[in-house]
Amino acid sequence: MMKNDCRLLKACRGEEVDCTPVWFMRQAGRYMQEYRKLREKYTLVEICTNPELAKEVTLQPIRRFDLDAAIIFSDILLPLTSMGVSFEFAQGEGPVIHRPVRSPEDAEKLHLGDPEKDLAFVFEAIRLVRTELDPKIALIGFAGAPFTIASYVIEGGYSRNFLHTKLLMYTYPDAWRRLMETICEVMTRYLAGQIEAGAQAIQLFDSWVGCLEPEDYRRCVMPYSRKIFERLKEHSIPLIHFGTGTATLLELMKEAGGTVIGVDWRISLKEAWHRLGNETPLQGNLDPVALLAPRNYLEEKVDQVLEQGDGHPGHIFNLGHGILPQTPTENVEAVVQWVHAKTKR
Ligand code: CP3
Repeated sequence: MMKNDCRLLKACRGEEVDCTPVWFMRQAGRYMQEYRKLREKYTLVEICTNPELAKEVTLQPIRRFDLDAAIIFSDILLPLTSMGVSFEFAQGEGPVIHRPVRSPEDAEKLHLGDPEKDLAFVFEAIRLVRTELDPKIALIGFAGAPFTIASYVIEGGYSRNFLHTKLLMYTYPDAWRRLMETICEVMTRYLAGQIEAGAQAIQLFDSWVGCLEPEDYRRCVMPYSRKIFERLKEHSIPLIHFGTGTATLLELMKEAGGTVIGVDWRISLKEAWHRLGNETPLQGNLDPVALLAPRNYLEEKVDQVLEQGDGHPGHIFNLGHGILPQTPTENVEAVVQWVHAKTKR
């Protein structure tokens, strides 16, 4: 089979498919027993930086469920190493950046490392996965978008109000620009390396961009995300532009770039298509919490998403955000099976 016959890649291009493709953000992770078992022996960073282990974890959900895509197992923060930003994943707290950037002087200290060399372990993991993966299953590479990465670098971790990020953006526009440009350069080269290693689609995660008003997005964020998409265009592969809480930013996100737009459950697919045009492929948008709900509620919610996707060749079924650690695997299995069976053309 030609790699372009793959269901997910077809849907990303808006072509006819035999049924709707499905994959889940964070499909490899703590909700899976085989992942938790491996985590008893290795830290998250150890798994990500060891190509053999990263390959294994990437393939764990593929072995268990009939998914249409694998996403390379890594984390959006790993490229920070290439900028001289040190961090750790603290037990139960999520990511912690050791010395957050709070001033123009701090921003000056970020440097452009050598992403091709510093992140070679990811490229190697991609090569390993691609040799074992069924050609019918697409391999997705990813990176964090400049705003979401900047928010971690500046806040030092996850934030509720993004106060430091916004204040740096408002108070020191030059430092903000330099910071965003450095991130942009690292991510572009990181993604190009993933594509060269065998990633067949790319997802840019702008998970926290929904905290911005549209005008700030247009002025301070869009130019950098756009630059990444522009520079990746030459590779002619699907580029998925994802964010959460982006109902008011959708048109601008499409303008920034990406051939597929990822939306969360806070907006209906119907409205998103109405706003972006029916020909725009969309990815989404089941609430991850629905996967923990009683079966009848879950099925109703899946039907609702599928109904809205009906008639759009460019629908990729996914969650609106990452799968939660408490998710029962039987429900994941059921949803994959429903999506394929209920959309058979
Ligand atoms: O299967 C996949 O989707 C690939 C793996 C993947 C991870 N992180 C592994 C991971 C992906 C695509 C990411 C992206 C990521 N990382 C994002 C963007 C997507 C999103 O969820 O918005 C963000 C914001 C991060 C930053 C991050 N990494 C946070 C906030 C956390 C802690 C939160 C939590 O769930 O504990 C991480 C840790 C992390 N990255 C885990 C995994 C599987 C937790 C698991 C562990 O400790 O073993």
